[in-house]
Amino acid sequence: MPKLTVDGVGSFDVPENKRLVLALTDEAGIDQLHACGGNARCTTCRVQFVAGEPEKMTQAEKDIAAARGLAGTPGLRLSCQILCDHDMQVRAISRLAGTGRADAGKRPADDITPPPVWTTK
Ligand code: FES
Repeated sequence: MPKLTVDGVGSFDVPENKRLVLALTDEAGIDQLHACGGNARCTTCRVQFVAGEPEKMTQAEKDIAAARGLAGTPGLRLSCQILCDHDMQVRAISRLAGTGRADAGKRPADDITPPPVWTTK
């Protein structure tokens, strides 16, 4: 089982290949934002990797990160576009608390959406 460490929160065992955004919500129990419901549109599901950043990336993540000017920030990734298939350590940098939003967003589906086309970062 991959281990997910969230700085300041703890370390958690996560089912293999679970979406990172759902692991942050379910296993880590944090108020991770995912305003677009995990569809690579909003970028509110962003996290900052400390260790274990995946090399592979969905084309959808690559495209929205470039469009929003996020691509140049080291370690900044979209948790809705990442599967927990190895140990990872992240900082939760986009949480509901303090935003004034009504909720974190519709729960993302179990599988990555849109259907992933894999490339590298
Ligand atoms: S981009 Fe919206 S939840 Fe990931």
